[in-house]
Amino acid sequence: MKKYVVTCDYNLENLVIEEIKQKISEATEIKQFENFSHRVSFCVPNFDEQKNKSVLQKILKLRSIHSLIELKGSFYLENPTLENIKAKVMEIELPELKIATSFRVTAERYGTHNFTSMEMAKHIGHTVILRYQTPVSLTDYEHNLRIDILGSFVFVGYQITDDILSHRQGKYNKIERVFHHRAATKHSLAYHLLTLAKLKEGESLLDCTCGGGTIVLEAANIFGNKIKILAGDMHQKAIEGTKKNLKINNFDFVELQELNARHLDETIQNYVLENGKIDKIVCNLPFGVQSAKQVNMRGLYDQFLTSAEKIISKNGKIVVLTMRQGVFREVVFMIKKFKITKEYVTEAGGLYLHIFVLEKL
Ligand SMILES: C[S@@+](CC[C@H](N)C(=O)[O-])C[C@H]1O[C@@H](n2cnc3c(N)ncnc32)[C@H](O)[C@@H]1O
Repeated sequence: MKKYVVTCDYNLENLVIEEIKQKISEATEIKQFENFSHRVSFCVPNFDEQKNKSVLQKILKLRSIHSLIELKGSFYLENPTLENIKAKVMEIELPELKIATSFRVTAERYGTHNFTSMEMAKHIGHTVILRYQTPVSLTDYEHNLRIDILGSFVFVGYQITDDILSHRQGKYNKIERVFHHRAATKHSLAYHLLTLAKLKEGESLLDCTCGGGTIVLEAANIFGNKIKILAGDMHQKAIEGTKKNLKINNFDFVELQELNARHLDETIQNYVLENGKIDKIVCNLPFGVQSAKQVNMRGLYDQFLTSAEKIISKNGKIVVLTMRQGVFREVVFMIKKFKITKEYVTEAGGLYLHIFVLEKL
């Protein structure tokens, strides 16, 4: 059996578990890793070389994960000093390092310890050199030995991914970018929002506060033109940026226009839609934190939802990401046009964000 640990967005581990269940039929024992946030673990059988490779490729195509580690060992320590960690790591079999041309160590630390993650990386690197005489290369390494300490829990494995997969800049699920919006949504979060919208072939999707277009880029990358994708923003800079991002990826089937999310019923007529309605609205609403002008969020959310209700199809859904969860929830209850069917809390860039899934009453 091979055991993997994936890192992911805070508090969305169950959604990651769902994606693994759905896409990696070989995976078993899929669960939050030792009850730690940001981490999910699972096992896959050790097949022949070719099958191992194809399973690994499927894992690397997962859209909700940030990095992938093949686990080699884990332990709890009553007194987690560098010496005690080193002694336990010495007991873990790492035969790949014996024959490797070079390696490096990457360490992460969470909790209160009397050493830094750099010191831990150096210490463990030294242990490996003494044990196998394998040279270190920080840039051109064959194996990246990953060691994490979370309180008194330590795990060791090989980090398989160099790129952060959620940036979509590596080999898998690659999306080109010319323009970056300063409040851009993480691609892994965009994926979760789209999954929660439960889009079906032939349906229409609108992101009415598209910024640099992360959500529609992710949707176009997943669905191609099997769904109708519409994007808009009230700022010309965002429209121009999204246009460039769509063009460089050849997503010319995505429709883009300047619009105001406060008056969706007025702008939506400009889109050619079969039933004149939108099936799913998925967006990352402005928070009013980074913009220089103080916008009245209550008014914006009220007008957005009131106008959205007029254009959304009967069984439609609205999935939003917002930091202003209190105001958003109050507005939903005040206007009485939608019910909240799901709510998740997550984090990005040190901000706590809420995901709301709404259905028409
Ligand atoms: C949080 S950002 C969206 C980021 C985007 N998802 C991305 O990844 O780049 C919010 C966007 O809402 C836009 N916006 C603010 N008020 C709006 C309104 N009334 N109508 C349409 N767009 C609006 C802003 O211009 C900004 O681009």
